[in-house]
Amino acid sequence: MNDIFLGPPGAGKGTQAKRLTARFGIPQLSTGDILRKAVADGTALGKQAKALMDAGKLVPDDIVNGIVDEALASPIAAKGFLLDGFPRTVPQATALDEMLARRGKKIEHVLSLEVPTDVLVDRLSGRQTCPKCQTSYGKDTPPKRAGICDKDGEKLIVRPDDMPDRIRQRMLEYESKTALLTGYYTARSVVRTVDGVGTVEEVEKRILQALR
Ligand code: AP5
Ligand code: MG
Repeated sequence: MNDIFLGPPGAGKGTQAKRLTARFGIPQLSTGDILRKAVADGTALGKQAKALMDAGKLVPDDIVNGIVDEALASPIAAKGFLLDGFPRTVPQATALDEMLARRGKKIEHVLSLEVPTDVLVDRLSGRQTCPKCQTSYGKDTPPKRAGICDKDGEKLIVRPDDMPDRIRQRMLEYESKTALLTGYYTARSVVRTVDGVGTVEEVEKRILQALR
């Protein structure tokens, strides 16, 4: 499985990617999660990315392309991967094609999660995230103990880019730069559109069906 999760902020890419990758035993390559870890660790990469991420803007293509090239070189990604949050621009998609061609691979499915804007905004404004494992919780997906991650007991935080004005900025970035990618991949007949509204379990079932 060499697949991509495409969809707007709050569509449930991270939530579903964690479940799918656990099921299939492949890594979730989330550029957002990798960048947030770099910010938390205070690395040079994190310092470069922090202001842009906090503002809800995209990080430059060459930075994220480098992150993904490195992740794809890892032996863990040899038997498959699920990209979450990459590619997000046409230059990132063409760079990915080149990275995969170099390794004799190609994208098998692009799972496009569709959720209306009002539902996205509602989900993101109620989201809490684990700073350690990046699991997301929300109004309809609460943790067992309020404010505490079910998986590692870490205290949950609100992502700086989940403030209302940043959410709007992220939506604009998505509409102007990322939405074009559906057309990019449609030409190759790899896109599987999935209705992302419903319970997490219902959406997961639809994804598994779309992969058959
Ligand atoms: P990134 O971390 O990728 O953020 P995003 O695309 O905005 O997506 P989110 O993580 O907000 O949403 P999601 O689809 O994962 O939804 P989730 O599962 O959490 O990127 C962050 C930033 O990093 C970017 O703005 C940019 O600066 C930078 N960056 C990253 N990649 C980049 C790239 N390639 N190029 C340039 N810059 C890049 O779910 C959302 C909420 O809904 C949660 O609360 C969840 O619990 C809840 N939920 C999920 N499913 C359901 C459901 N079925 N029903 C009800 N609630 C649900
Ligand atoms: Mg995410």
